[in-house]
Amino acid sequence: MKNAMRYSVNVFIALVAVALLASCKAGGDNPGLEYAPNMYHSVAYEPYTQITNPDAGSWLTSIEYEDGHAEFYNSNALNPHRMNMRTPPSNTVSRNKANMLPYRLPKDSLEIASQIKSPFEGAEDAQLLAEGKALYAMYCTHCHGAKGEGDGKVATGVTIDGVEHSAYAGVANLKGDAYKDITEGHIFHVITAGKGLMASHGSQMSQEERWKVAHYVKVLQK
Ligand code: HEC
Repeated sequence: MKNAMRYSVNVFIALVAVALLASCKAGGDNPGLEYAPNMYHSVAYEPYTQITNPDAGSWLTSIEYEDGHAEFYNSNALNPHRMNMRTPPSNTVSRNKANMLPYRLPKDSLEIASQIKSPFEGAEDAQLLAEGKALYAMYCTHCHGAKGEGDGKVATGVTIDGVEHSAYAGVANLKGDAYKDITEGHIFHVITAGKGLMASHGSQMSQEERWKVAHYVKVLQK
């Protein structure tokens, strides 16, 4: 009994040693022997790998694919050269889901930015206004105040449980004369890149949301 156990332990150690040695031939495109290979080989298409042999990984195939390919095959027969990702046509720029081009003007381009037309400029759409209002309440009210008068709680300071929190100085009164004539493009750019004491909100809000708020600010100013 004891011998049998020692024997199986030895066999086990030998097998592990063989597996370790076999995995040593890894290099280049060869990953060597993989432990639990299903963990490394994605069922979904992978953009950066190309395994064109339909029989690759047939020894462990666990899913029945319609075209009968084996587990590791991950090429896309519908695309040229069986690529998973198509190369975009040259000189094209991709648009986002809202069909907008990327906004790449740097922070110091406020003058040019203010000439850019909003996709919503001049629109009188109740839903657009409601969305702009909701976004303004989320991202701007605490500083600029519900009416844009620069009297949000952050701007005036608050006392919570007897502890005074001092005011964030210099918040703009968007209804003031200085801001009467700013364009939606100007507001969009300030939200995107920030200006002076106001930090950028470009990473928090999508392009579309920023234009909606800019549109709402113009309505608020009236
Ligand atoms: C943390 C407080 C704070 C938040 C939040 C904030 N602002 Fe401001 N905002 C400021 C301050 C402070 C200024 C004055 C900047 C300066 O001139 O130094 C300012 C200035 C502005 C200006 C005038 C820019 C100019 O040309 O001088 C606009 C327009 C504006 N904010 C719009 C917004 C909108 C829209 C939002 C919401 C997306 C927003 N702000 C959120 C603090 C804030």
